[in-house]
Amino acid sequence: MSKKLIIIRPDDWHLHVRDGAVLKDVLAHTTKQFARAVIMPNLKPPVTTVDLAKAYRSRIDTALQQLGVSNFNPLMTLYLTDNTSADEVRKASEHQIIGFKLYPAGATTNSDAGVTNIKHAYPALEAMQKHSVPLLIHGEVTESAIDIFDREVVFIDRILEPVRKDFPELRIIFEHITTKQAAHYVRDADTKGKNTLGATITAHHLLMNRNSLFTGGIRPHHYCLPILKREEHRLALMEVATSGNPRFFLGTDSAPHPKGEKESSCGCAGCYTAHNAMGLYAEAFDSVGQLDRLEGFASFFGPDFYSLPRNQDQITLVQQAEEVPFEFTLGDTVLVPLRAGETIAWSLAK
Ligand code: DOR
Ligand code: ZN
Repeated sequence: MSKKLIIIRPDDWHLHVRDGAVLKDVLAHTTKQFARAVIMPNLKPPVTTVDLAKAYRSRIDTALQQLGVSNFNPLMTLYLTDNTSADEVRKASEHQIIGFKLYPAGATTNSDAGVTNIKHAYPALEAMQKHSVPLLIHGEVTESAIDIFDREVVFIDRILEPVRKDFPELRIIFEHITTKQAAHYVRDADTKGKNTLGATITAHHLLMNRNSLFTGGIRPHHYCLPILKREEHRLALMEVATSGNPRFFLGTDSAPHPKGEKESSCGCAGCYTAHNAMGLYAEAFDSVGQLDRLEGFASFFGPDFYSLPRNQDQITLVQQAEEVPFEFTLGDTVLVPLRAGETIAWSLAK
């Protein structure tokens, strides 16, 4: 008999919904499963101020209205720059901004306006610590001399550890971690009993290692940043995600890109998983016999970390293979989702 799992409705603590024509179609996927999502600010131009976030939020609200969705709450972030002022941080803290996102300049999609030197962001970090606004981190150094597979680990030593020392009260989320070192760093960090360090983990980093980039040929739809790592790292991520440790929680990093911009001589980074993210996570947890740990990871530890209430309603997941289409039409673009033309072992009960 196929298995069934009923859990409190989950939230996505790291999501790209973009803007314009695709917005509504991406939200349609996400809102079927999740009650809330942390909305990434790496638009063109980036969402750097409270006013821009308010305008973006109202475009999201319009799309939700068009979809007839009234039970979804987008949690807005701001994009940290070298010039983010302490005053903007104070303003953010007064306008329900869930956090500031640190993109080291050049680290990933639309990160050119990101932080060029962490010291430039210190006045903003100081204000974030003071006003209790969390820092969400894309944790990779950007120097081209550093091997792409090592950039997360080097980031821990060069940036994350000094920032944690200099701002011991700052709440930090190390987002979409991909390495054994990052998993163990977060697991073992001495936070002096405070809730100052958490990490999100994507479904694709739980399910794939770097071989998936080259199975039978180059696979642009498996290219994301931070890039997939060796199997030993995937295993370490599975270990912490399914351990019941509340420092680790769900963040899909689902990142839509038009098909043509992925299948290109210089393809964009990002895996699209919003169509059945919970099915992918269930598949990962089930693969190691830890389905009963999924609810904590997906529905409890995120809101607990952010000091928000847990959701109250439930979703039902069933072990029923879902066929994934070869493509979705999102707005006026075509997108290739993760597992296109294949199946996901779990699905949301209809
Ligand atoms: O793979 C990624 N895609 N990683 C990121 O950090 C950004 C994201 C995007 O915006 O496409
Ligand atoms: Zn992201």
